[in-house]
Amino acid sequence: MTHRINHIAIAVKDIEQSRSLFGLVSKAAISEVIEVPDQKVKVCFVETGETKIELVQPTEGNVGVAKFLKNRGEGIHHICLGVENIEVELAAYKEKGIRLIDETPRIGAEGHRVAFVHPQSTNGVLIELEELESHNQS
Ligand code: CO
Repeated sequence: MTHRINHIAIAVKDIEQSRSLFGLVSKAAISEVIEVPDQKVKVCFVETGETKIELVQPTEGNVGVAKFLKNRGEGIHHICLGVENIEVELAAYKEKGIRLIDETPRIGAEGHRVAFVHPQSTNGVLIELEELESHNQS
């Protein structure tokens, strides 16, 4: 099975401002801003078909996305691939020596199980894996 791009995430400083901007640029519907206290971020999704755009704003200074903004400024933060079974994927990555940020999945902004792969193992690009609904056990 091919892993399709589920969403591309952009780190932003002001999500309300970016939400308006991306509404104007994409002509697409945009979800309400959701707070994900677990990850200390606010997110919203631009509904650009099968591949969405996720806007991410940190709510605290010590999280990864806040450090990203500080070091690199606003821009593409991660690419999310939809996978069928996240545990199978994580085990396979581990076996190949690919460094993981999340050894076990956690619950993402949309209620699905997600895990991040360390950018050091993936050419400097942060990759998120998101399990498709059919295998969601939560
Ligand atoms: Co994401």
